[in-house]
Amino acid sequence: KRISIIGVPMNLGADRLGVDLGPVAIRYAGVKSRLERIGYDFEDRGDIEVVRPEVATDGHSNLKYLDEIVRVNTALCDGVADIVNSGRFPLVLGGDHSIAIGTIAGAMQSKENLGVIWFDAHGDLNTAETSPSGNIHGMPLAVALGLGHERLTAIGGVGKKLNPKNVVLIGSRDLDPGERQLLKDLGATVFTMHEVDLMGMPKVMEEAIRIASDGADGVHISFDMDAMDPFFATGTGTRVAGGLSYRESHLALELIAQAGIATSAEFVEVNPLIDNKNETAETAVALMDSLLGGWLK
Ligand code: ARG
Ligand code: MN
Ligand code: MN
Ligand code: MN
Repeated sequence: KRISIIGVPMNLGADRLGVDLGPVAIRYAGVKSRLERIGYDFEDRGDIEVVRPEVATDGHSNLKYLDEIVRVNTALCDGVADIVNSGRFPLVLGGDHSIAIGTIAGAMQSKENLGVIWFDAHGDLNTAETSPSGNIHGMPLAVALGLGHERLTAIGGVGKKLNPKNVVLIGSRDLDPGERQLLKDLGATVFTMHEVDLMGMPKVMEEAIRIASDGADGVHISFDMDAMDPFFATGTGTRVAGGLSYRESHLALELIAQAGIATSAEFVEVNPLIDNKNETAETAVALMDSLLGGWLK
């Protein structure tokens, strides 16, 4: 078992200071020793360089910092593809969720049909036309589905996009009107908090795993820390009440580990500046341990 991490100290997609410190907070929380304990051959490929917001150009309407976000995600796409080509599992540390554009584009390079399980309070399915904020971290899942600004959708190859049949959202509870419409049009599967409450996490995951991996040759796991209830994840920028509990989050990822379907992963939106003693980064590391099978020992 071989794993490589890449940090992406990105905050331009969230337009918020502190989430750029996510990768260093996760390293301080002990990601290396935790994964080595599971028995992984661990490699840290360092961080992708991201410029400060003060010097980033920002000339695009309702797409804040588009130029720099395209540059970083293009580099991340190459980095992730390179890790996969060397026979290793890519684990990307965020950084705001706009980095999913590069992670997924990179993971898709070697796959015919990649499934995605997206844990998030939000849909991240906006485009410049529907976004209430202009923040690109609210857009990456749309981009991965081929929707949005052409400079974003072209990353990793113009024709490369996810099949909505293999896309599953879990934990949704703050969807914008344009995102709701898009979900209906696309036919992706959504387990909102209502379904999590009603069905319970074991049943949700049984279906999510089946749907994401059906006819797919890999599944990417994208975990936005705001999927969790703010009680369990204080250090994240767009908190929404009523999220996944600590145990539900672990169970979900343990069931993915047991199914053996994950081929890449990212943990994003860790912001130590608004956290309580780095607890959210520590929780992220504990969740990585579950996703990577640490509990099986
Ligand atoms: N839907 C809101 C927007 O488009 C919030 C997105 C939050 N995204 C996130 N990755 N935390 O701005
Ligand atoms: Mn979110
Ligand atoms: Mn593309
Ligand atoms: Mn998100």
